[in-house]
Amino acid sequence: MKPILCPSLMCADLGRLNEEVRALDSAGADIFHCDIMDGVFVPNITLGLPDMCAVRKATEKKVDCHLMIADPAEKVSWFTQAGADIVYVHPESGGDTAEALRRIRAAGAAPGIAINPETEPESVLSLLPLCDYVITMTVHPGFAGQKFIPETREKAIRLARMKRDFGFTLMIDGACSPAVIADLFAEGADGFVLGTSALFGKGEYAQVLAELHTQK
Ligand code: DX5
Ligand code: ZN
Repeated sequence: MKPILCPSLMCADLGRLNEEVRALDSAGADIFHCDIMDGVFVPNITLGLPDMCAVRKATEKKVDCHLMIADPAEKVSWFTQAGADIVYVHPESGGDTAEALRRIRAAGAAPGIAINPETEPESVLSLLPLCDYVITMTVHPGFAGQKFIPETREKAIRLARMKRDFGFTLMIDGACSPAVIADLFAEGADGFVLGTSALFGKGEYAQVLAELHTQK
């Protein structure tokens, strides 16, 4: 078993997005992570639908959309129709999260929730049976380059234990450094969003990804 490595494309060189995706694809990336932000649910605006479409065209590998947008149920079809393989919605973002998850699955994509550092897993138990993936955020959503929030470690471990009952794949998003990846992979997390803490600006993509894939 190797960790699932998901380059966070908001951290890539967006002036060369096509080349970046192709380079990461051949360097061994597993899933491409598109952070979609609306400036309302989070105080930032990053990638949008055209960026996701450009990523879709550049790779055959899985592309995910992490929707950090208000009331996502009305908008998930924009991303499934554009070819997203996985769509994450935040239960904190309002609207009917269960309906959003059902629409994602009905469109043929894999549904997931992404929960903020303050959100306890117990508060979203009813959503877990509807999810193939769960992201637990280890920073406050919105910006790359933040510090890992220590309190989120215990929650990630608790979620890893819940996988057995619900069958979801557990992903960690935020400040995933090599040390965080080694620690939480050993505790049962399946995959990691890679931004400035472990991938971008850290050297040759193939070498960085190969090292991160070989967890002891
Ligand atoms: C946070 C973003 C992530 C990530 C970026 O909202 O979803 O893409 O934090 O990676 P780091 O934190 O390593 O710069
Ligand atoms: Zn993300």
